[in-house]
Amino acid sequence: MGIDPAYEAPEAWHAALAALAWQVDLGVGDVIGDHPVNRYELVEAAVVAQVEMPVKAVLVAVAPSGDGAVAAAKAAAGAAGSLGDLRAALAAFEHCEIKQGARSLVFGDGNPAARVLILGEAPGSEEDREGRPFVGAAGQLLDKMFAAIGLSRTAVAAREAVYITNVMPWRPPQNRDPSVEEIAMMRPFVERHIALINPDVIVLMGNTPCAAILEKRGILKLRGIWAEALGKPVLPMAHPAYLLRNPIAKREAWADLLAIRGKLG
Ligand code: URA
Repeated sequence: MGIDPAYEAPEAWHAALAALAWQVDLGVGDVIGDHPVNRYELVEAAVVAQVEMPVKAVLVAVAPSGDGAVAAAKAAAGAAGSLGDLRAALAAFEHCEIKQGARSLVFGDGNPAARVLILGEAPGSEEDREGRPFVGAAGQLLDKMFAAIGLSRTAVAAREAVYITNVMPWRPPQNRDPSVEEIAMMRPFVERHIALINPDVIVLMGNTPCAAILEKRGILKLRGIWAEALGKPVLPMAHPAYLLRNPIAKREAWADLLAIRGKLG
């Protein structure tokens, strides 16, 4: 099927560009489909479907959250005997609403034999597109920071390697912070992930991993202070996205990196 010549005319191109710029001005950050969707019609259709569908069918589409979801997460994560199993368990987990709007499951990256595990917050748009954690601007800074103490996600030798994962494996809408309930729901998966990697040191990048692992917030107070969790030494650090916005904080981050180097011996 050929393209309608009307769409190839230079005026059409400029009109399309202006319409796109207008959408960006309105705050549109991502294009998630090739065709526009009228969400008002979808709501009406869903209401009709709920009236017409048996209750059981509606419940299948919207899995319960809350305590039931935490119990389901514990069961699924506890049964995972390998990283492959854990990835499959996450792929099959239907209790987290954030998953519905995400393109990819961003599971982990790096050398699973690494001595250092970096736990981040949640994927952003680039991570969602690529399916790998920390590949955007913050990720590039993260790689440089760890390279400065001789560690990298691509290193083959365990003593030079890092492994990277996030508390939330799906990109939250508008990059919002995961809620307390969502963090509690994902915690069994995070704990199992850490147990399977079995690192010597865990680095908590930002507030969300501190909330998940230490049940504390306030990264600027917590950073640089070693704690113990899951039987491992744990170091909270300021998130590289924060460092990009506040370059002055890189000095403290450098001190934290040296502390990690020291801990590894
Ligand atoms: N920030 C995070 O915490 N994780 C990512 O994967 C990307 C950005």
